[in-house]
Amino acid sequence: MNDGSQIVYLNGSFLPIGEARIPVLDRGFIYGDGVYEVIPAYRRAPFRMPHHLRRLQASLDGIRLGNPMDDEAWDRLVRDLVARQPFDDQSVYLQVTRGVAKRDHAFPKGVPATVFMMSNPLTLPSREQVEHGVAVVTADDNRWLRCDLKTTSLVGNVLMRQHAADHDAIETVMFRDGWLTEASASNVLIVRGGGIVAPPKDHQILPGITYDATLEFARAAGMRMEIRPVRREEALAADEMWISSSTKEVLAVTTVDGKPFSGGEPGPMFRRMYAVFQDHKPSGSRRG
Ligand code: PDD
Repeated sequence: MNDGSQIVYLNGSFLPIGEARIPVLDRGFIYGDGVYEVIPAYRRAPFRMPHHLRRLQASLDGIRLGNPMDDEAWDRLVRDLVARQPFDDQSVYLQVTRGVAKRDHAFPKGVPATVFMMSNPLTLPSREQVEHGVAVVTADDNRWLRCDLKTTSLVGNVLMRQHAADHDAIETVMFRDGWLTEASASNVLIVRGGGIVAPPKDHQILPGITYDATLEFARAAGMRMEIRPVRREEALAADEMWISSSTKEVLAVTTVDGKPFSGGEPGPMFRRMYAVFQDHKPSGSRRG
């Protein structure tokens, strides 16, 4: 796939990634002035596309950028891109930026948005990660206060994710003023006394599509849950901690800041949740 032949979409055309070019004055490059989505496709069927398109619209509204396409056109394009890839389970990436203009912070007038889409193989967590959990580190959340917008200005998240990588951890779980927010590229849920506790979807976290799916599937399975703010102390003393994202699905955290968490093994609620999640997601892609 790194030979430049992967077919991507750029501003109306499908072409090999090696031939896709944008001008250096694209505001995505200059300012990170854009938004994006990551949509998993199981066996070529996009998962929760309407939810992703709704969040895309919310992100565009949040940065005051018009949507260059209606949902039907997005849906068609995503499926077309997916059909052009030589693998079944995919992770579709799409981004919209405020286009190309002379550098000036204020919005340019009459400039078309830049639309770029690519789709990579969906690499789900390994069996080892599912069965034994993953390591995270913690840090104070120092990102801006519109974390509900999925913008391409990701340097805050990049630094947090690198902090995790520096410590051989998968994610950095963040706290703002002592309250749990989310992780560098995933949402965080905890388990206390047999119930799931999830921080509310406010401006401090990305409203994760997988967070919603997890809670929805859990509710359907009769699992107890509560949506409320979670203190750092409560999170770090929880029975279980989970992370969720489109590419990780749901994973149990079993190491926090280098120390075993939840007895060092995924807890019973996670095992149940994982099974419920696999049962609800589109069939055929269940891990072997
Ligand atoms: N990240 N929070 C942050 C900061 C994220 O970047 C993501 C997803 C999530 C989970 O959202 P969802 O369940 O909709 O994937 C939460 C994607 C996968 C990424 O940037 O690659």
